[in-house]
Amino acid sequence: MSPSTPIVTLGEGSTPLLRAARLSAAPGVEVWLKCEGVNPTGSFKDRGMALAVAKAVEAGARAVVCASTGNTAASAAAYAARAGLEAIVVHAAGGPSSSKLAQVRVTGARLVEIEGTFDDAFAAAEELAEREGAVVVNSTNPDRIEGQKTAALEIVEQLGGLPDVLALPYGGGGNTVAYAKGFLEAGFPALEIVPVEAADRAATTASAIRIPTPVHRAEVEDALARSGGAIVSVTDDEIAMAWRSLARGEGVFCEPASAAALAGVDLSSLAEGTRVVLVLTGHGLKDPDALDRLREPGS
Ligand code: F0G
Repeated sequence: MSPSTPIVTLGEGSTPLLRAARLSAAPGVEVWLKCEGVNPTGSFKDRGMALAVAKAVEAGARAVVCASTGNTAASAAAYAARAGLEAIVVHAAGGPSSSKLAQVRVTGARLVEIEGTFDDAFAAAEELAEREGAVVVNSTNPDRIEGQKTAALEIVEQLGGLPDVLALPYGGGGNTVAYAKGFLEAGFPALEIVPVEAADRAATTASAIRIPTPVHRAEVEDALARSGGAIVSVTDDEIAMAWRSLARGEGVFCEPASAAALAGVDLSSLAEGTRVVLVLTGHGLKDPDALDRLREPGS
């Protein structure tokens, strides 16, 4: 932020950190849920989008562009509308859920559907940005990371200190990089960060993290080397089980990708006194069809 940066806000941030008492954890293990789905457009993306769009306005941009599995798109569309900019969203055919597409369409943003994967959509978005003179608001935009790191600062404030373990879904890796940066800058460099990716990145039913190649992979590895922690892969069945237990056991309805955070940590194996934060990145209403898609084993 500089004195000439406008404030563009929909009321993002200050999300609840809820104690989860009923998730099956070893005795004395504290589990907390950082509920990022209560942000204005229903995902953590709003934290960084508020700043990225404000900086685009400051730079005199006319339009912003992103490639997305849906949540970045919904957030970019809303914040661009708020700021009076045009938004252009590129997505893979069959990628984003219908709820996320509805969030984009209602703003009048321009949707560009391509055949291919998220990686192809990202390449197309970069080309479009060049051609149209639009600002890219994917997490490769450093303002996105600066905004998103506020979640780490909030957790430190809400817990009165650092968690021992922080688990979060790992798609492109921007959010992992943002948390690591936030904790480091708050003076807490060392904790176990667990980025959880889908075992089958290219085809997971958790559409938000259906990203074949994480653009931030090298930075994620650097961050883990500094902080501690390691990348974990989980199957779609493990995601489905975690997703159901968050709703049934805790009353928290998140989207499937978010449940990867729970699926990636064996809570029953942790030592007494361990404090774990699971970052639930998106709201369950983002993807209600998951209820039919994520069948219970045996049903
Ligand atoms: N959780 C949700 C709900 C997401 O939408 C995403 C990414 C992630 C986790 C992964 O975060 O990419 O920073 O590692 N969604 C992007 C999008 C790709 O287009 O909405 P990451």
